[in-house]
Amino acid sequence: MATTLRTALTDRLGCTFPIVQTAMGWVADARLTAATCNAGGFGFLAGATIEPGQVDAAIRDVKSRTGRPFGVNFHMFQPNAEEVLEAVIRHGVRAVSYGRGPDAATIRRLKDAGVVCMPTVGALKHAVKAVELGADIVTVQGGEGGGHTGAVPTTILLPQVLDAVKVPVVAAGGFSDGRGLVAALAWGASGIAMGTRFLLTTDSPVPSASLKRYLETRDPTLIKVSTAVDGLPQRFVENEELKRLEGMSLPARLAMSARYARHWGREAGLGPLGMARLGLKVMAGDEGGFRTTVMAANLPTLVQRGVVAGDPVNGLLPSGQVAAVIERLESCEDLIVRIMREAGDRLAALAELAAGNSKQGSPT
Ligand SMILES: Cc1cc2nc3c(=O)[nH]c(=O)nc-3n(C[C@H](O)[C@H](O)[C@H](O)COP(=O)(O)O)c2cc1C
Repeated sequence: MATTLRTALTDRLGCTFPIVQTAMGWVADARLTAATCNAGGFGFLAGATIEPGQVDAAIRDVKSRTGRPFGVNFHMFQPNAEEVLEAVIRHGVRAVSYGRGPDAATIRRLKDAGVVCMPTVGALKHAVKAVELGADIVTVQGGEGGGHTGAVPTTILLPQVLDAVKVPVVAAGGFSDGRGLVAALAWGASGIAMGTRFLLTTDSPVPSASLKRYLETRDPTLIKVSTAVDGLPQRFVENEELKRLEGMSLPARLAMSARYARHWGREAGLGPLGMARLGLKVMAGDEGGFRTTVMAANLPTLVQRGVVAGDPVNGLLPSGQVAAVIERLESCEDLIVRIMREAGDRLAALAELAAGNSKQGSPT
């Protein structure tokens, strides 16, 4: 059964289906974002990893590939946060996603410009705080999700947040199919957001050697949370590099990060003073702390090696546990069509169940 499923999310974002492609550093580029939007979903461009001076061009690139609304992700502690904010407002971008960085004044500035503010949260208290600060929609990411992630699974966090806030809630962490979409809607969510599933599409920029490693990972327990990379819990496919980092002492990891930071600072043209300013900015943020600040430089270097250079042995592969149940690449178009078809089938089966015409779980 074909279905459309109009929700508060589709109304606010202007997409056809309640399916969001989340921002993934170096992965959610203009092509992936536009492919999602052209297929009827809503894509977020990974603005937090766009080099200073390149944001305008990246947004124009998305616009050249799709006439549909899309979003941009950013972090307040990225060196060019103001550049992203200005570009988002100037281009009339439909929505922004972010973590815990922006204050109420920044959120007000975006909302006054008509930008939908849609943070991602991994804990109940962060959801409540995000709404107090002005969020229009909250994406709730359960612990099974990819990238930086919390400890509470989607099945527990999602209803907790739905009970606590009055804005539309989007479910993330572990979704890949139409069953998941219907389950999220049944909880009361307005849609689903997926990272890993969109990374594993033919529209993804990730090189084939790394995509192969993701697809070969069949055991969800081998997609692990580690704090060894930047000091914060983050989920990765367990590979040679992750094991090496986990086996290193903390001083060795800090020294490695300092080397990467010097290299990165030179490339970004920051100089010692600029680096110190950025460090203080990160430390002042909620997710700060000396250790985390120093180790933050490990992440871009090693993740780019995994998902940009396509080295699944010496680089890192951020991933949700859902990668273990994804067997093949699909285009964004095929993925979204399939999810909507499966959702329609599940809804029809549930309608039969509610009408007393079927007994779910009985052998047929
Ligand atoms: C490769 C990868 C990179 C990510 N990078 C970011 C990022 O830069 N910023 C961010 O807010 N979330 C990031 N995330 C988290 C995703 O946006 C999303 O919330 C998460 O993947 C959802 O869980 P799922 O993977 O189970 O669908 C990343 C996730 C992955 C898999």
